[in-house]
Amino acid sequence: MVPVLLILMGTSATLQADLFSDKKFLLLPPINFTIKATGLAQVLLHWEPNPDQEQRNVDIQYHVKIHAPEEDEYNTRRTESKYVVPLHEGFAASVRTTLRSSRSPLASNWVSAELKPPPGSSGTSVTNLSCATNTVTSSHTHLRPYQVSLRCTWLVGKDAPEDTQYFLYYRFGVWTEECQEYSRDVLNRNTACWFPRTFINSKGFDQLAVHINGSSKHAAIKPFDQLFTPHTIDQVNPPMNVTVEIEETSLYIQWEKPVSAFPVHCFNYELKIYNTKNGYFQVENLTTTKFISKIDDVSTYSIQVRAAVSSSCRMSGSWGEWSQPIYVGKEKKPLAEWCLIVLPTTICFVLLLFSLICRLFHLWSRLFPPVPAPKSNIKDLLVVTEYEKTASNETKIEVVSYVEEAGSEVMENSMF
Ligand SMILES: *[C@@H]1O[C@H](CO)[C@@H](O)[C@H](O)[C@H]1NC(C)=O
Ligand SMILES: *[C@@H]1O[C@H](CO)[C@@H](O)[C@H](O)[C@H]1NC(C)=O
Ligand SMILES: *[C@@H]1O[C@H](CO)[C@@H](O)[C@H](O)[C@H]1NC(C)=O
Repeated sequence: MVPVLLILMGTSATLQADLFSDKKFLLLPPINFTIKATGLAQVLLHWEPNPDQEQRNVDIQYHVKIHAPEEDEYNTRRTESKYVVPLHEGFAASVRTTLRSSRSPLASNWVSAELKPPPGSSGTSVTNLSCATNTVTSSHTHLRPYQVSLRCTWLVGKDAPEDTQYFLYYRFGVWTEECQEYSRDVLNRNTACWFPRTFINSKGFDQLAVHINGSSKHAAIKPFDQLFTPHTIDQVNPPMNVTVEIEETSLYIQWEKPVSAFPVHCFNYELKIYNTKNGYFQVENLTTTKFISKIDDVSTYSIQVRAAVSSSCRMSGSWGEWSQPIYVGKEKKPLAEWCLIVLPTTICFVLLLFSLICRLFHLWSRLFPPVPAPKSNIKDLLVVTEYEKTASNETKIEVVSYVEEAGSEVMENSMF
């Protein structure tokens, strides 16, 4: 092995020595270098090999340097290269010819090109753009069983005139779509967008590009681009069909995987069992869809589960939403409910009985002889309207109102 390596190093050294010693060998820069925007937040860099380049048994490659919006560099043997990056600050790059598999400093001059930033001051761009995706079951099951929806929100630029209108586009791979469903602010400017279905593949590795441009009669509105990594903005659905059964002192909890394009083995779960009696939370991290827990049979429990795609299937993202809580256990609630229903019924019944008795024995006038003094008009009015409104409950209301009035008068009389 060692001799082979030495021989290889030797040959490359002689080749380099050859190239250096020969003053006539020159690397020429590529020609016709262009940068073209080929999609949202995507450019194509293209150049041609220099036709005058001397072809001396050497391996040529190109060294690409990105200057803006952020510095980057890489080598390629091809004569074009796709680059994905936000373009609202413009784009600038250079390329030169170098030699492959050699550390020789031999290289051509640079050739450069740029894309100018779009017009408009940066204060007119949207700010605080945030997007989230969610998987929903498709109605066209024969085509694709799942669809990915997208929702984005943003704030209006601080320097954007009042008549500004914003438009959102997204690109995922080769697919580009314009938003059709916007939400607006008080000035009717779009500030959120909803795509019920998209071409986004939650299992894919492509970046999601979001582009928001705008128009106004008074100013150029600078567009805004942002790239999102799908797994970081994917909101995993809660697990489905959560069931809980109690058998003696055990809780049997089961659920199904969330609505998702990922298969069953791709999920981690977090189970939360809350004991309402002592306020204790039991939290379990699981990869199965079943759990059995020992419980105290004189308490109530609330059970919730949430899911996350595991790192075995894609870069793991955050936890999804909790499932709706399920309450089980021996409740003390029935007593309270019983009181709530029975108590008012009893009171009503007693009042009804009382009024009937009053009527029967004409206790009415005996108990409360008519008061000659004029009463508050408002109170009278109230009694009359109540009387008319509730013809069926007439007796009850009569009694209650008069008893109250009589009571208050007695109080007043005794006070003075
Ligand atoms: C470079 O561009 C010029 C002018 O556009 C064109 O005439 C020429 O054919 C191009 N060269 C190559 C190698 O494509
Ligand atoms: C918008 O983003 C800025 C900086 O990222 C932050 O300071 C500000 O609180 C955000 N505004 C709102 C309303 O979220
Ligand atoms: C916004 O961008 C889209 C996609 O690039 C383009 O078709 C449209 O004309 C632009 N609209 C404005 C107002 O700049």
